[in-house]
Amino acid sequence: MPIYDVSDAGVMTLAGHDVRDLVVEYGSPLIVLVEDDIRSRCRQYRGEMAGLYPRTRVHYAGKAFLTTGFCRLIQEEGLGLDVVSWGELETALAAGFPPEHILMHGNAKTYRDLERALEVGVGRIVVDNLSEIERLAELTERMETTAKVMLRIAPGVKPSTHAYIQTGQIDSKFGFNLNGGDADLAVQRVMEFPRLELVGIHCHIGSQIFDQDPYALAVDAMVGLYAKIQKEYGVPIDELNMGGGLGVLYEKRYGGSGIEEHVSMLCRDVLDAAKKYDVEPPLLYHEPGRSIVAHAGVTLYTVQSLKKIEGIRNYLSVDGGMTDNPRFALYQAKHPVVAAEHMNDKADVVWSISGRCCESGDMLQRDVLLPDLKPGDLIAFLSTGAYTYSMASHYNRVAKPAVLLVSPGRCGLLAARDTVEDLIRLDRIPSWLEEVTDSKL
Ligand SMILES: Cc1ncc(COP(=O)(O)O)c(C=O)c1O
Repeated sequence: MPIYDVSDAGVMTLAGHDVRDLVVEYGSPLIVLVEDDIRSRCRQYRGEMAGLYPRTRVHYAGKAFLTTGFCRLIQEEGLGLDVVSWGELETALAAGFPPEHILMHGNAKTYRDLERALEVGVGRIVVDNLSEIERLAELTERMETTAKVMLRIAPGVKPSTHAYIQTGQIDSKFGFNLNGGDADLAVQRVMEFPRLELVGIHCHIGSQIFDQDPYALAVDAMVGLYAKIQKEYGVPIDELNMGGGLGVLYEKRYGGSGIEEHVSMLCRDVLDAAKKYDVEPPLLYHEPGRSIVAHAGVTLYTVQSLKKIEGIRNYLSVDGGMTDNPRFALYQAKHPVVAAEHMNDKADVVWSISGRCCESGDMLQRDVLLPDLKPGDLIAFLSTGAYTYSMASHYNRVAKPAVLLVSPGRCGLLAARDTVEDLIRLDRIPSWLEEVTDSKL
């Protein structure tokens, strides 16, 4: 099912809302998230895992999209939360998210990140490297507290996805390599600090993964290590976190989410591996981000200008760009694009859609078929819920768009559009420039 409907007038509607009305009320560009879609994916993950595996936890990976309101939705759906920074943690806390259901990741956690995580009592800290073990040991000692930790392991598995989002291979900045003894060293080091309680191990092999084989390889490696930690080191760990990463078919508007299939294979692989290594099935965590929120998102842009270069390219420039969606500029990522007010018109012009930033690399998509559009028309990028707003920037001092949550019969902001005050809020004028004393203009 596509995320949108089309009215008799050929206009896109989202959860029953005419997109033209949304733009009139909330401005353009506008990121719209369809609430029911997000909730149903949360339920698919939780329901499927609970049905197939004895003890499970699903944590939403906040990096995909996070605001305080979104934390509330995640909490209502019974998912825990992953954060990677003090900022994400504070967002969750501001929303009243229970800290014991928060897990903190990150390959370069600062003192501030860790100190705050300990202070509020996050559920688990996923330790990424030896320096962090030392840092955490020192902090727990100073704060006279304890921490439940998981070790992030790089299991040496390289999924087939964009190099920027592969994370489980040997040559990775993340985690302790399984091969070569790093993981063993980490276990031994943690065991030296009584304030650090090793409760489990974690891996995340990458993002935008469609093939189940790398997960199966990772599961085998991880459960092997899990058994070794229990049996050789005598540490009664009980938790296995297999990360997130399920891919999203950006180019396809229809079809299933793939969640059930992915989760059932993952659960089966872990149960098989537990048998193989002769351990009780661990408490199994899963940390999806993209597959929860990507398809729920639609970004509406208003066409600003056209430039047709005969025989070369037709540029269609919009009022947003890499500042609200850097995915094409970063990974040449695909998004379906449609003419939101002309959904039934013939799409017979090939357009390259450019953003408004002063950089040729600020492209949003190349070579898409749309009707012959004009300035003022609305276009919609589909599947923009994940890794867009969360990666947004203020390049060229372009305001970040508003984010709107829509359901049948109601809609509400998850994030307001930046105002001029927001854009200059952090600026300061050094004392000697308070007055312009020597203007050469
Ligand atoms: C540790 C960790 N867990 C979970 C995720 C979520 O991945 P995805 O959004 O692909 O499901 C990420 C994403 O990079 C991650 O780094």
